[in-house]
Amino acid sequence: MSENIESVLHENRLFQPDEAFVSQARINPERLKELHRQAADDYEGFWAERAREEILWHKPFTETLDRSKAPHFRWFADGHMNVSYNCLDRHLAERGDKTAIVFEGEPGDTQTYTYRELHAAVSQFANALKAQGIRRGDRVVIYMPMIPEAVIAMQACARIGAIHSVVFGGFSAEALKDRVNDAEARMIITADGGHRGGKIVPLKAAVDKAIEHGTPSIERVIVFERTQHGVPMIEGRDLSWADAIAGQSSDCEPEWVDSEHPLFLLYTSGSTGKPKGIQHSSAGYLLTAILTNKWVFDLRDDDVFWCTADVGWITGHTYVAYGPLAVGATQLMYEGAPTVPDGGRFWKLAAEHNVSVFYTAPTAIRALMKLGDAFPNAYDLSRLRLLGTVGEPINPEAWMWYHRVIGAERCPIVDTWWQTETGSHMIAPLPGAVATKPGSCTLPLPGIMADVVDEDGKPITDPDRGGYLVVKQPWPSMLRTVWGDAERYRKTYWGMFDGRYYLAGDSARKDADGYFWIMGRIDDVLNVAGHRLGTMEVESALVAHELVAEAAVVGRPHEVKGEAIVAYVILRGERPTGADAEAMVNTLREWVAEEIGPIAKPDEIRFSEGLPKTRSGKIMRRLLRSIAKGETITSDTSTLENESVILQLQGKA
Ligand code: PRX
Repeated sequence: MSENIESVLHENRLFQPDEAFVSQARINPERLKELHRQAADDYEGFWAERAREEILWHKPFTETLDRSKAPHFRWFADGHMNVSYNCLDRHLAERGDKTAIVFEGEPGDTQTYTYRELHAAVSQFANALKAQGIRRGDRVVIYMPMIPEAVIAMQACARIGAIHSVVFGGFSAEALKDRVNDAEARMIITADGGHRGGKIVPLKAAVDKAIEHGTPSIERVIVFERTQHGVPMIEGRDLSWADAIAGQSSDCEPEWVDSEHPLFLLYTSGSTGKPKGIQHSSAGYLLTAILTNKWVFDLRDDDVFWCTADVGWITGHTYVAYGPLAVGATQLMYEGAPTVPDGGRFWKLAAEHNVSVFYTAPTAIRALMKLGDAFPNAYDLSRLRLLGTVGEPINPEAWMWYHRVIGAERCPIVDTWWQTETGSHMIAPLPGAVATKPGSCTLPLPGIMADVVDEDGKPITDPDRGGYLVVKQPWPSMLRTVWGDAERYRKTYWGMFDGRYYLAGDSARKDADGYFWIMGRIDDVLNVAGHRLGTMEVESALVAHELVAEAAVVGRPHEVKGEAIVAYVILRGERPTGADAEAMVNTLREWVAEEIGPIAKPDEIRFSEGLPKTRSGKIMRRLLRSIAKGETITSDTSTLENESVILQLQGKA
């Protein structure tokens, strides 16, 4: 793993929380100390108290943590509750007329839902799902643009105990098909299309193609008319959203489920070619969705929160569809690209909707930073009081720009480390209590026993040494299993340290102050513009092409995207050159877009007659990474089966 620990940052700037911020923060330094002390003294008691404070229980739980089937841990297992009830019904008395969601589409159309209206819309759609035969435990795939109906569909599933699996609208028909089949979903909820980058994303067409290619479990497709560009509907299978809700009541008694009832599946990439369905629970998941929105985002009643993530990712689950609603916040949802009509769109949205807490990815910050300060400077961003980042390490330069230009040196920045698997923030500063350092996600949250250990599981105390990022105690919002593959769950996350620690898959370093610095993945997972992709996934897509004999994919550092995808390909026929090679590159890039989605298109494809392998036949990825970066190959390559291949891969032969 040492090969994956590349740049070790040494950043000494320290930003103390502003006094004005501290005096109003939900969590001040004393409260934080108290929470940490309680979690250290009585771990289960700490979580039980939080769960009693934050969740409205239909039937209270008596047992906090059941370790008997470890690593399949169970939290609050004998309690009954409903997530949608906890997000909507609980606010009706006090915040019924408060704005829950204010939406702006890419074309500029807007729409607002109060909590009462959202509650009615969710209940009505929940009744529509029931009318179509969807029951507790059924899987429903949601493949939608970033519009309020996506949240309504998710909340409606939660309301009736159906398990949703949101598939990001940027994934292709093939990727959609695989996810539908793995989950054995009965229904797909989609839209005719969505607006993105000035174009229409043809979602319904992709659904049609996925079903055509074989999704035997799908009985029904519900289609929301967003773009109204006229899509063919298949009689007996497809139903418009409007027809589905027609005549349905806007009252729907929530289905009371037990705490461990699966709330959703979310497919993510790992180190094999097949994405895994990460399964989350109801109560444990909701608990830290609530806590982190309060602790890390410090959300208050007068805030306008904007998380720019799509609901197709975990960030859009916890910090759009569930957490902000559960704490009764007002949030902005935006459908489109950050640069339509120009690079000022995000800042214009933030200014016009009075956004006070803003959460985005470093890749977006870097891309917008490149466009210059004039865009943000043209808008009044004085309502902003807190900024956040997620998804990848943020380089200090981008951090400082965010701090200076967007936050006017006034707003704390919360760099939040977490994963699809962890459900919510794990390592992040509490803005009124923890000083920040550019590029560090700082310290674990109360109740999160994260650490950095060596191969033997021993804590690393040397601040210059990296190691494995682990979590030493189960926590409420952890994944429960990999859908349909408990063995993969055990092996991937609990295998390395004999079931003692959760292995995150990241390497990290802890500095002398105990601050965490994430260094990157230890497995073959790429992080491209904040999107998680498996190298094997891209390789399988490439070799599925009839002309490709073999492929190896690696990441290369990229200024804006964090990582770029480089593919080395061996074709079945002759190695193409000149215009033939160029044409082949285009064909293969389009092919990958069809197989996975445009986000997985290799940035660069190089053809060769072989791949560097050890004599035992293992592809030397480290070497491929060096070649991709353009480094001079100094290490001894004489153990390679075919040394001349190196020159071809470097483009020198
Ligand atoms: O490598 C870490 C990186 O993103 C991975 C998780 O990806 P995903 O499941 O798609 O979830 C992304 C949104 C939570 C992690 O294993 N990562 C996430 N947040 C950070 C990060 N790397 C550095 N700093 C972060 N704040």
